[in-house]
Amino acid sequence: MKNIILDVDTGVDDALAILFAVRHPGLRLRAVSCVAGNTHVDAVVRNTLTVLEAAGADDVPVARGAERPLLAEPHDATHVHGQDGLADLDLPTPIRQPVDIHAVELMRREILASPDPVTLVPLAPMTNIALLLRAYPEVAGNLERIVFMGGSAAVGNATAVAEFNVWHDPEAAAIVLGSGVPMTMYGLDVFYEVALGSEDIDKLILHTDSGANLAGRLLRHRAMASGGDTRIPIPGGGSIGDAGAVCAVADPAGLTTRTLPVEVCLVGEQTRGQTVVDHRTSTHDTPPPGRGTARRIDVALGVDRERYQRLFLDTVSGVTV
Ligand code: BDR
Ligand code: CA
Repeated sequence: MKNIILDVDTGVDDALAILFAVRHPGLRLRAVSCVAGNTHVDAVVRNTLTVLEAAGADDVPVARGAERPLLAEPHDATHVHGQDGLADLDLPTPIRQPVDIHAVELMRREILASPDPVTLVPLAPMTNIALLLRAYPEVAGNLERIVFMGGSAAVGNATAVAEFNVWHDPEAAAIVLGSGVPMTMYGLDVFYEVALGSEDIDKLILHTDSGANLAGRLLRHRAMASGGDTRIPIPGGGSIGDAGAVCAVADPAGLTTRTLPVEVCLVGEQTRGQTVVDHRTSTHDTPPPGRGTARRIDVALGVDRERYQRLFLDTVSGVTV
């Protein structure tokens, strides 16, 4: 059983990631920390609690974290995720409240209390994670790995070269990527690849389990919002987005990675937030003189999309995996 913590900006695809994490028998979701990104952090907290309640996961602690990036101005993505950040499905207001400590404190508590090293899974701008590593560097000793959704080895989505989560708080991402914690970057190179077609989405919508039904409705929204998007491999399909990074934790063999130096660019209107991946130095343990100080991390460059598609569908539908 892998102990994991999700850091989210729920967010339609963050919701899919939560629904997958609570249902996967090999994962123990110890906590969910919330941060501003797709929408305001208060909406992120509300959405996260709503999703956990739909999944019947009432025992997972949720905490409110940073409401803005370290230095940058916040920019939401409600044009992608809906005005409420969760596809405007008119979902019930959650009954539960978040815990009354900051997300950074919750993560610290859960990481240090875990009997086995924790895998931290940021699916959002990395403000909370940077604050955690700066305030409590000792947590690194009980982290197995950070598997984050963010960045790209090629094209961006927020700008031509920058991915939204890294672009939203580049300084935070630079701190996390430079931390030396073993890390996997699940970026745009694989992010859109894992998608469900309309038949599978309909199956989820017709499911009697409220978590599976919610996953179906969210995927339907994603499919409609991305109609004609050539990055989605199934025409009319909905990408599972952030949930793919959690699939990568549950089943790392479905991912093809290369260990490469990656550095976050902090300057330039187009280039700020770009994850500069140095494909040249893959065979060197340390960068040659003059080639900078970028840390080497595992960069996902390929994904077995059918494997993760099946894994997601079976897990969220409650089929034993
Ligand atoms: C990332 O940005 C957000 O809109 C999604 O939730 C995902 O984490 C993709 O760039
Ligand atoms: Ca997200």
